[in-house]
Amino acid sequence: MDNRDLLLEVKNLQTHFRVHGGVVRAVDGVTFQIRRGQTLGVLGESGCGKSVTGYSVLRLVRPPGQIVGGELLFHRAPSANGAQRGAVVDLVKLDPFGREIREIRGAEIAMVFQEPMTSLDPVYTIGDQLAEAVIHHENVSKQIARLRAIESLRRVGLPQPEQAIDKYPHQLSGGMRQRVMIAMALICGPSLLIADEPTTALDVTTEAQILALLRELQADFGMAIMFITHNLGVIAEMAEEVIVMYLGSVVEQADVKTLFRAPKHPYTKALMRSIPRLGQKSHERLNAIQGMVPAPSDIPTGCPFHPRCPEAIPGLCNVKLPPLIQIGDRHTVRCLLFEENPTG
Ligand SMILES: Nc1ncnc2c1ncn2[C@@H]1O[C@H](COP(=O)(O)OP(=O)(O)OP(=O)(O)O)[C@@H](O)[C@H]1O
Ligand SMILES: [Mg+2]
Repeated sequence: MDNRDLLLEVKNLQTHFRVHGGVVRAVDGVTFQIRRGQTLGVLGESGCGKSVTGYSVLRLVRPPGQIVGGELLFHRAPSANGAQRGAVVDLVKLDPFGREIREIRGAEIAMVFQEPMTSLDPVYTIGDQLAEAVIHHENVSKQIARLRAIESLRRVGLPQPEQAIDKYPHQLSGGMRQRVMIAMALICGPSLLIADEPTTALDVTTEAQILALLRELQADFGMAIMFITHNLGVIAEMAEEVIVMYLGSVVEQADVKTLFRAPKHPYTKALMRSIPRLGQKSHERLNAIQGMVPAPSDIPTGCPFHPRCPEAIPGLCNVKLPPLIQIGDRHTVRCLLFEENPTG
């Protein structure tokens, strides 16, 4: 890989929550990279640490949560300020309320959340909220910020943006609100967009429109996307490279074609089997994964997936923590079945 393409290097990230009665290891040694302009899919069942990974990158994790280990090396955009050209910052080392992260957040790394009402303020018009983002980062006049806001609404396909800009969030449909969220995330031209299940609250038609819009905007602006979802169909449509997460760690990483054609980790294979087949009647039970995701405060010994794994080897998988094993060019898997000498 060409190092100049690197945008974000996540190395052994650990984000834990100290709660009554113990520690929740929500993210526990996650490693991956995102290159400029690339879409990385982050796949996994509920509770496996996808959102906490996203919040950690933006330094939005608040107590009782804390990043307790690892690095988040972010390659900053070359800016007019020559001193920052090519700068690589470890986001973990920044003060989460300090100047540098506030400069980066919104302008260089932006996030779209699952439920737009959590990040749109109901008491301000969408125009005011969009303009504020521009003024905060670019020190332009109110008039210019308003024009930029209208332009950004036009770009995400809001009908009659000149009128829409003075509306309040509740006056828009869910799909339109999600478009506004995307406009807000992209208005300062970030190099990384973290999209956390941006379409799960939407109906299928609106979902398809929003996904198409994101792909179009990515082609125009070239930003990288970290696309968080538990939906394999969305992964197939959006991602180039995929990490599969289970209980706070990455269990498999591959390019999207390899992952769908030849998944290796028993967890990934189980996820693949759980997709409804074409022609399957809707009342037929889906082939869901056996068992429940254990509480992250209660992670099993050995391989965390072993109690649910149909291929687990007794005496091995319940004892030994699997290392990340390279099995192909850009294909890694955290599973003892792929160790050269599994009993060693
Ligand atoms: N504020 C908090 N306090 C304690 N535990 C938390 C907190 N926030 C998240 N967690 C725990 O961290 C783990 C990972 O949560 P996270 O929200 O990242 O999961 P997720 O993969 O995004 O799931 P989903 O698909 O449901 O959105 C979960 O077990 C969750 O309960
Ligand atoms: Mg989540």
